[in-house]
Amino acid sequence: MRLTSTLFFLIFLGACSNEVQTVPGRWYTAQQVASGAGLYKDNCAVCHADDGSATVEWRTPDANGIYPPPPLNGSAHTWHHPLDVLDNTIVNGGAEFGGVMPGFGNTLDAKDRLAIIAWFQSLWTDDIYSRWKKIDERTQ
Ligand code: HEC
Repeated sequence: MRLTSTLFFLIFLGACSNEVQTVPGRWYTAQQVASGAGLYKDNCAVCHADDGSATVEWRTPDANGIYPPPPLNGSAHTWHHPLDVLDNTIVNGGAEFGGVMPGFGNTLDAKDRLAIIAWFQSLWTDDIYSRWKKIDERTQ
């Protein structure tokens, strides 16, 4: 009996240590945020800024009617888009909405794209994140 419960306990411990923990209240893990940070710097920061703040005047188009890169840090409207729409924007860029953002479908795989989304969502306040989560859940 004792041996059996010890064995169960060890198996339980093993299962716990293999389980990847998500950041409390969020869908992603700390590892995804960490790898997303580097990928973001290499691919996105040139337009969206190192800290995701991009252009404060993101609602104002330039003289040619082109919109500047919006902030991804939760201060603009990125949180209005469910996860699959965010991913789709990264894959295809902005062309389908008349935008100028390039698509990354050929350079970033699904794992990398999710890591980048995790990184910029880690900049969002809990309030913005929970509003996004409601929108995201509605689309599932
Ligand atoms: C060459 C500049 C440029 C690069 C590089 C770039 N973007 Fe963008 N991004 C834009 C612009 C400009 C927009 C506004 C829509 C448009 O014009 O396509 C935008 C829009 C977005 C949106 C929609 C935001 C919203 O509020 O609806 C997301 C999400 C996004 N970019 C993520 C990324 C990610 C992630 C990367 C890196 C993998 C990236 N962008 C790289 C310029 C860029």
